[in-house]
Amino acid sequence: MSKILVTGGAGYIGSHTIIDLLDHGYEVVSIDDFKRSLPSALENIQKVTSRKITNYDADLCDRAAVEAIFDKEKDISGIIHFAALKSVPESVLYPLMYYHNNLESLVILLDIAQQRGIRQFVFSSSCSVYGNASELPVTEETPLQEAESPYARTKQISEKIIEDHAKVADMKYVVLRYFNPVGAHESALIGENPKNGLVFNIFPRITGTALGQYDHFDVFGSDYTTRDGTCVRDYIHVMDIAHAHTLAIQQLDKDADAPKYDIYNLGTGNGVTVMEVIHAFERVSGVKLNYKLQPRRAGDVVAIYANNEKAKNKLGWSASRDLDTMLRTAWQWENNKRKTS
Ligand SMILES: NC(=O)c1ccc[n+]([C@@H]2O[C@H](COP(=O)([O-])OP(=O)(O)OC[C@H]3O[C@@H](n4cnc5c(N)ncnc54)[C@H](O)[C@@H]3O)[C@@H](O)[C@H]2O)c1
Repeated sequence: MSKILVTGGAGYIGSHTIIDLLDHGYEVVSIDDFKRSLPSALENIQKVTSRKITNYDADLCDRAAVEAIFDKEKDISGIIHFAALKSVPESVLYPLMYYHNNLESLVILLDIAQQRGIRQFVFSSSCSVYGNASELPVTEETPLQEAESPYARTKQISEKIIEDHAKVADMKYVVLRYFNPVGAHESALIGENPKNGLVFNIFPRITGTALGQYDHFDVFGSDYTTRDGTCVRDYIHVMDIAHAHTLAIQQLDKDADAPKYDIYNLGTGNGVTVMEVIHAFERVSGVKLNYKLQPRRAGDVVAIYANNEKAKNKLGWSASRDLDTMLRTAWQWENNKRKTS
């Protein structure tokens, strides 16, 4: 059984991916210092899978601490590196915090992985690397535009760091560019659970508003040149994203000819406006949402959705869950969280 190190395993996408990896026969250890997550995510993985996850509570920017973990876990065969700070507005306010955390942790991890002879590395990137793309849908070949935020720039730079390193290291690297991961595990025990009220993403803001946690939901920008004036995004169920990581690791396991550095878009291919999400939420939940139209927000791109043919053809991946399933599972998760906390 191959052992995969998941960094950021208590986070939103990391926790769902751990479940998918365990379901497909992998052993998992995690490094997460709970900067942006809670230990309860790991406890709930145990409830879903009946497997206890070893997590090391260490900052990935602390090289000595990370070295010590690799000294203990000598049989790691691959790494999936989720751990990062991910909020666009926060990165506009605190750019150095983003450059420090997201880039330093990556460089340390790549270096240690190479020294320890680990051969597989999967990296969490983002559709934000495309900026305001020149063509839609974007393929992996679409030229990257100016990053719209320091967060997006950390992902652009991270990709370049990995690409440069891949030229000299005896390892294989897969970069997965997620579009907008949303929804929750069917059990309603795992979902997006940002710490300390640091809720920036659209789905938890919508469900939080519906549950009375926030007075209203802000729609940033209603005068864009889109169908209804609001931003267009490609929302994708987090379990579909999670499974792509398992497929990427499986491909690296079995395909000796896999390129040293490869990039995949992970989106459904459907662009949906913010207003369409609001209406779908109201339909699925039966709750009327109190929303307010606000001016445009710094750092937001206008519209983006994926061409996902490469992931379909080369990884055998597909996005199987629709927008209603995304909203239903997110809504069930928020309601369950409320009942149990
Ligand atoms: N969720 C999204 O909308 C989205 C979209 C595109 C890309 N991504 C990327 O996917 C990855 C995972 O995102 P997520 O939504 O699960 O985020 P998340 O905040 O839920 O999880 C990230 C986890 O990493 C941990 N972490 C951060 N820095 C760390 C450090 N220095 N040392 C140890 N642990 C650290 C946090 O505590 C958290 O548990 C990130 O790289 C993010 O940029 C996310």
